[in-house]
Amino acid sequence: ATVAYDFNVSWVTANPDGLVERQVIGINGQWPPPRIDAQVGDRLVVNLLNSLGDEDTSLHFHGLFMNGSTHMDGASMVSQCPIPRGASFTYDFTIDQPGTYWYHSHTQGQYPDGFRGPFIIHDPKTPFQYDEELVLTVSDWYHERMSALQPRFMSKYNPTGAEPVPNSALMNDTQDLTIPMIPERTYLFRMANIGAFAGQYIWIEDHNMTVVEMDGVYVHPTETIMVYLSAAQRCSFLLKAKKETSRNFPIIASMDTTLFDTIPPSLNPNVTSYLLYNKTAPMPSPSPLKSFTPLDDTHLRPRDNLDILPLPDQTITLNISMSNLASGANYAFFNNITYVSPLVPTLYTVLSSPNTSEITNNPSIYGTYTHPYILPHNSINQLVLNNLDTGRHPFHLHGHNFQILHRSGADEGPWSRSANNSAYNHKAPMRRDTLVVEPNGNAVLRFKADNPGVWLFHCHIEWHMISGLAVTFVEAPEVLQQSLQIPEDHFSACKRQDGKGSGN
Ligand code: C2O
Repeated sequence: ATVAYDFNVSWVTANPDGLVERQVIGINGQWPPPRIDAQVGDRLVVNLLNSLGDEDTSLHFHGLFMNGSTHMDGASMVSQCPIPRGASFTYDFTIDQPGTYWYHSHTQGQYPDGFRGPFIIHDPKTPFQYDEELVLTVSDWYHERMSALQPRFMSKYNPTGAEPVPNSALMNDTQDLTIPMIPERTYLFRMANIGAFAGQYIWIEDHNMTVVEMDGVYVHPTETIMVYLSAAQRCSFLLKAKKETSRNFPIIASMDTTLFDTIPPSLNPNVTSYLLYNKTAPMPSPSPLKSFTPLDDTHLRPRDNLDILPLPDQTITLNISMSNLASGANYAFFNNITYVSPLVPTLYTVLSSPNTSEITNNPSIYGTYTHPYILPHNSINQLVLNNLDTGRHPFHLHGHNFQILHRSGADEGPWSRSANNSAYNHKAPMRRDTLVVEPNGNAVLRFKADNPGVWLFHCHIEWHMISGLAVTFVEAPEVLQQSLQIPEDHFSACKRQDGKGSGN
C-alpha cells in the first residue's frame, strides 16, 4: 500500500514541561509532531512544505536503509539540498524493514527545536506475541531555540566546548503522562530516544522488561530491569501487566548527567510517568535507585542468528577528539578532520563525475572537508573507533546497521588487535545502527557495503554533529552512476528564489 503524509512545517508555540512556552517546529500547526505508521512493504510518501519562514529544512528517516533510494535519505548537503523556505519536496521510498524508528530534520542543528517524531513500521509476521502496542519517546528539552543556543556553543567564549545543558526531560513530549494498564495484558512498548544530547536510563518500578528489538533488529528475548538509550537509539520490550490493580507504578527516564559539564541546581534530570492500574490510587514518588545497571546491548543476540561477517576487505580507523580551532571555538574531529558541509550535495558530485574508476574511487573529488571514504561495492568494511575524548559518543551509520564485534569499557584506550582480539563477538554479533562508545574507550564494527549510496557516519549528539563529528561514506559510486534515477524536482531544492545557491 502507499501511505501518504502531508507535512506542512512551521513554527508554533508549545510548553511541554510546563515551565517555559517557546517556539517549536510543528507539523500542520500541531506539536508534538505526528507519528508515522507504515507496514513492511509499504511505499511511504511524505509531501513536505517548508513554511518555517526563516530556516531551510530536510527530513531524515533514522535507521532506514533507503536501499535504492539514497537520494531520499534527507541529509542536507549529503543526499540533497535543504528545502528552501516556501518550497516543497517529496520523500518517496519503499520500506523493507520492520521495527521502531524515528524521523528528524537533518539540517544543521534543527531537530532539537522539535522537528522529530516516532516512525513505526509494523510487521505482519512479528516473531513474538502481544495484545497491545504502545509508543514511548524520551527526550531532553531546551527552553531556547537552537538559533540562540548554537552561536553561544560555537563561540570562542566557550573554549572548552561545554554543550548547553538541557532544561528538562520529556516522555511522549510531556511531563504528565499516564499509561492506562489492563490487568494481565501483554504490552509491546516501543521506545525511542528522540533527544538531542542526553542518553536516558529507563526503568519501571516492580516490572521486568523483556527486550525483543533494538534499532529495528529483532533479538532473542532478554529480560532486564533497566535500559539505556542514547540519543537516536530505540528498543522495544514486552511487559506483562500485573493482575493486581491496587496501585500505580512509576516509569522513569533519567538523563545521563555524566554527559553534562555542569548540573544546574534547578535541573531535574528525571521525568516520571505512570503505569495506571487504578484511577483512584495515588501516584507514588519513584523509590531511590541503588545503581544504574542497564542491559548491555552488545551482549544481545539477533534473532536471525546472522553470523559474523568475513574478514574485512578494508579497515577504517577513526580517532575521535575535540579541540579548539584557531577561532577559539571548540570543534570535533575524526582523525583531526572536522566535517564541513560541501557546497554541492556529495551525492550530486558522485553523479556528475566522469564515470571512470580512477575518478569515482578518488576520495579527493568529494572534498577534503566532507572526510570521504570510498566503500567498494559489496566490500566488507571494519570500523575501528578510538574515542580519545572524555565523553560518551553515540555513533550512527546511515544506510546500514553494523555488527558490534567489540566494545571496550571506559578508559581502556584505543583498540589493539593483539590485546583485544579474543574479545571479538564471534558468534552472531549484535547489530544496531547507533552505538555508544565509552569515554577513552573503543569499539570495532563491521558491515557489508551492499547498499550503494552516500551515507554519513556521525555522532548523534547534535552539538557534536554541528561541530563536525562526521565522515562521509561514498559507497559503490559507479553503481550509483549506472543505476540511480533521481526525479527532476529533487534538484529544485538547490534553486533559490533569490537566485543564490543553497547551502548551510
Ligand atoms: Cu538520526 Cu544522521 O541521523
